[in-house]
Amino acid sequence: MSRLNKIAKSSGRISAERQAVFEGVYAGGKWGRAEGELFYSGAGSRGSAADEYVQLVGTYLRELQDGLDRPLVIGDIGCGDCQIGTALMQLVPDARYLGFDVVRPLIEHHSRHLGSEKMAFEVLDIVTDKPPPADIFLVRQVFQHLSNLEIASALANLAGSRVIVTEGQPEFPEGKPNPDKAVGAGIRFHWASGRGRGVELDLPPFNRTVKELFRSFSPPHELIVTALVEA
Ligand SMILES: C[S@@+](CC[C@H](N)C(=O)[O-])C[C@H]1O[C@@H](n2cnc3c(N)ncnc32)[C@H](O)[C@@H]1O
Repeated sequence: MSRLNKIAKSSGRISAERQAVFEGVYAGGKWGRAEGELFYSGAGSRGSAADEYVQLVGTYLRELQDGLDRPLVIGDIGCGDCQIGTALMQLVPDARYLGFDVVRPLIEHHSRHLGSEKMAFEVLDIVTDKPPPADIFLVRQVFQHLSNLEIASALANLAGSRVIVTEGQPEFPEGKPNPDKAVGAGIRFHWASGRGRGVELDLPPFNRTVKELFRSFSPPHELIVTALVEA
């Protein structure tokens, strides 16, 4: 086990701080706002890159569902405003969806408005908590908001599961891979110029096996990369 993984396993006593950070992001509209919506996860949860994600991951999930004689269980880590989750469930209606997020008011809101026999929501901090078992976990644009230590800890909590990770990458990579950052609304690279580095799980300090599934372009200078990751 790498040094980072050892530290990560013994860390994670600051969940309350992470909860407060992301509750503040939503309350302060730091990712923007949409009329009539209490929670808004940002432009990345809508638009053409999000639509492409839903179509391609939806097809992947449907194939998994077709190979089972029971409902496929999908765990969505950092489900956010659940635009993506609800759209996916339209394409895989026989599946069961478990939406997890560190923000309690958001989870309570989804439980009230979207909760059903097929869709359930639970407060969970992936840095400190192991999720209940699922056939597949989706982690879309979550790691980019966490520190490297928090990402390593989250990966440890997903170890042994099938995981699809989606992260934004700059169009013009520049500098050392995986620069660290503090937890929060921002990301590692400068999205307006498309310069800097994002989270690259195949490179140090993470060194995971990653198989890219597809990438989409998001103006002005971002590539949204979706990959299967051996957590
Ligand atoms: C940018 S939003 C992405 C939402 C959604 N996955 C999507 O692609 O539309 C990131 C979400 O991750 C959640 N999040 C951040 N850190 C988390 C953690 N440690 N555990 C669970 N959720 C977390 C945030 O509260 C936020 O809702």
